[in-house]
Amino acid sequence: MAELESSKNARTESAISKQADLDQVHHYDSVEDMPENIQKYWHQRYDLFSLYDDGIRLTDDAWFGVTPEPVANKIADHLSTSVPASVTTIIDCFAGAGGNTIALALSGRWKQIFAIERDATTLACAEHNARLYGVHGRIWFIRGDCFDVLRGQLKSIVKNAVVFASPPWGGPGYRDAEVFDLSRMEPYGLEKLAGEYTRVAGRVVLYLPRSSDLNQIAGWRERLGLKERVRVTHYCMWGSSKAICVFLGDFSFNEDDR
Ligand SMILES: C[S@@+](CC[C@H](N)C(=O)[O-])C[C@H]1O[C@@H](n2cnc3c(N)ncnc32)[C@H](O)[C@@H]1O
Repeated sequence: MAELESSKNARTESAISKQADLDQVHHYDSVEDMPENIQKYWHQRYDLFSLYDDGIRLTDDAWFGVTPEPVANKIADHLSTSVPASVTTIIDCFAGAGGNTIALALSGRWKQIFAIERDATTLACAEHNARLYGVHGRIWFIRGDCFDVLRGQLKSIVKNAVVFASPPWGGPGYRDAEVFDLSRMEPYGLEKLAGEYTRVAGRVVLYLPRSSDLNQIAGWRERLGLKERVRVTHYCMWGSSKAICVFLGDFSFNEDDR
């Protein structure tokens, strides 16, 4: 059963942080304190969160998946302007440690932001990090499986909301693949993600590896019978693409926007 909490009134320890395994939550003050397998991320800490030194908390696993702040802000910009003003709710299906959720909240564009995360400890990090950015009160944090939550708790809301999803990119070598086979992305392939989300929502954004197979994405447009063109945008940092977003459904872009 998913649990929902707005941090609006959470002045002390929130219900979400009470469920976290605090042994897994860290704010590292030096690279020597980090486990070896994540030390390579130390020099990227301010790219991930410009307020890192204010006490950003992450699980060791979360370091791999956080959307870098400039990228998250640019995506939030694009979402702010490409969706009609009448749509005021956005759902971040894989909130992780809060990278995208915080950027969406900082944009000030959305009346309701839902952040869904399956892992209680990671969700507690997201809530804490959102608090550091002063936006925790604008976010409803939901612990649960996003597919269940969209079919259940948020069923009536999702129809007129934007669904944003940055799923795990596990699977055979997305880093090495020249063209990444999205049907083999684990644990959720393109079929599961696009299929489930477009069944319940008219506007879906998938944040995927930069090497994703665009033919598979184009194939999904036909398969879903979408009348709108599918937009794919590369998001770059330091001159190279970090990831793409696939915009499925009714978005309208200013073609000059970069
Ligand atoms: C790539 S990370 C998301 C990172 C996030 N966008 C950020 O910037 O911090 C993917 C997250 O999805 C969570 N997750 C995996 N399956 C899930 C599911 N079915 N429902 C909700 N969360 C899930 C994982 O625990 C992980 O934290």
